[in-house]
Amino acid sequence: MVCLGNICRSPLAEGILKEQLRNSGISIEVDSAGTSGWHAGEQPDKRSISIAREHHIDITDQKARKIDLSDFDRFDLIFAMDQSVYKDLRNIAPAETLNKVHLFLTYSGSEEMDVPDPWYGGPEDFRHVFNMIREACRQISLKLLNSNR
Ligand code: 4NP
Repeated sequence: MVCLGNICRSPLAEGILKEQLRNSGISIEVDSAGTSGWHAGEQPDKRSISIAREHHIDITDQKARKIDLSDFDRFDLIFAMDQSVYKDLRNIAPAETLNKVHLFLTYSGSEEMDVPDPWYGGPEDFRHVFNMIREACRQISLKLLNSNR
């Protein structure tokens, strides 16, 4: 799960997908990163921690990191939270791994393409982002469940 800072959107996507997979009994490694290293080493944004906590998901043990070239080898699916992140990922991905890079919402079957960056927003923006990510993760969990059968 990849966004720009790895402190607002992708930590939520990591926490939510992990929770859903755990509940479905699927064992798949999930991680998140940012295309920037601006917040590397930091905990997720307080507003993301808070909206996750409201839904009984604890993301406080996550630490922001910048995506690394080795991630393109290590993971089978790499999801970009918006089109700008998608473009950046496509620019750095080794050619043979380009087919692993997907737009998170499009892959989940949504008509929307971007999880909006909530960094300059308020609690309502974080709530909106949480709901969007939860629904997309639900669709992705179903896909993974079906392909695991
Ligand atoms: P994220 O949000 O990409 O969802 O983690 C942002 C976090 C920090 C900044 C931008 C977006 N920033 O400009 O520092």
